[in-house]
Amino acid sequence: NPPNTQMGESSGPARWNCRAKGGSSGFKVAILGAAGGIGQPLAMLMKMNPLVSVLHLYDVVNTHGVTADISHMDTGAVVRGFLGQQQLEDAVTGVDVVIIPAGVPRKPGMTRDDLFNINAGIVKTLCEAIAKCSPQAIVNIISNPVNSTVPIAAEVFKKAGTYDPRRVLGVTMLDVVRANTFVGEVMGLDPREVDCPVVGGHAGVTILPLLSQVKPPCSFTQKEIDYLTDRIQNGGTEVVEAKAGTGSATLSMAYAAVKFADACLRGLRGDAGVVECAYVSSQVTELPFFASKVRLGRAGVEEIYPLGPLNEYERAGLEKAKKELAESIQKGVSFVRK
Ligand code: NAI
Repeated sequence: NPPNTQMGESSGPARWNCRAKGGSSGFKVAILGAAGGIGQPLAMLMKMNPLVSVLHLYDVVNTHGVTADISHMDTGAVVRGFLGQQQLEDAVTGVDVVIIPAGVPRKPGMTRDDLFNINAGIVKTLCEAIAKCSPQAIVNIISNPVNSTVPIAAEVFKKAGTYDPRRVLGVTMLDVVRANTFVGEVMGLDPREVDCPVVGGHAGVTILPLLSQVKPPCSFTQKEIDYLTDRIQNGGTEVVEAKAGTGSATLSMAYAAVKFADACLRGLRGDAGVVECAYVSSQVTELPFFASKVRLGRAGVEEIYPLGPLNEYERAGLEKAKKELAESIQKGVSFVRK
């Protein structure tokens, strides 16, 4: 039987992929950074997604092992592995959705912005390849600091003349997943029934949960609001500290990334009413990028919803968030323009 993985060399075995049979009507998805802490469980969960027919796994190390491993799962998607910069363009060519969890994670005491120096360059390089080989792809950016890496991606695509703001999305889904979980805990609700919008960005005070808009409607005490806001904003740090130097959230992030990618794929398929929070090019505030609820469709982000009524606490939070966001956005833009 031909192997359904493409490794190292680009001749020979690559041809065998053509004969591997996957789901015929699904989407092609690439994961860049697929051998990492997020990348591996994300690859596993995407291999289980019935909307995916072809799964490209790219990393600069260890792609062979992860690809061989995942490819043995008896689900529909065909898995192909791509290792190292020389295979990056093949990895992203012809794909519908690219998910990027490549880059270094935080260690205790670090902010997401401390990752900028390494991850900015990684995201820039990856997006240059996407702009060249797959300009129509929907791009889901997980690599931190998301508040800056999304503007970096946008600038790269602008430079290449392929920018479509509807197709570049920063993944803030983990903040929503955490908000739903923590609200569920406090109110004694099943987290699957909770819908808590989280807007702004994806770092510290820029993570702004809109507890006044939680569904089902909840009435929180001020103490509960303070507790929930702090826990949602610092959920990532809670995991970084618990992992004590070995990384940041990977399993819950992979879960959130798949939930978000699945929403993008359902949008691409033409499903109606697919709405999730994401950090996107936006006119909801005066900032060029902002996370809020968006409707996903065949073109990517097809509608961006306004923030809705905010209470005084949330309005104060919004002002703080915007101040920090403006700096992070500018930092990302300058990195590419310099
Ligand atoms: P990790 O270090 O376990 O994995 C990162 C992977 O990226 C590694 O396999 C590495 O080889 C690969 N990589 C490095 N340079 C690359 C390049 N040039 N091209 C392709 N792959 C490359 O890190 P982990 O825990 O998977 O986190 C990845 C990123 O996701 C970090 O920046 C982290 O801060 C971010 N993150 C984002 C979250 C969000 O909510 N958006 C939540 C949690 C983490």
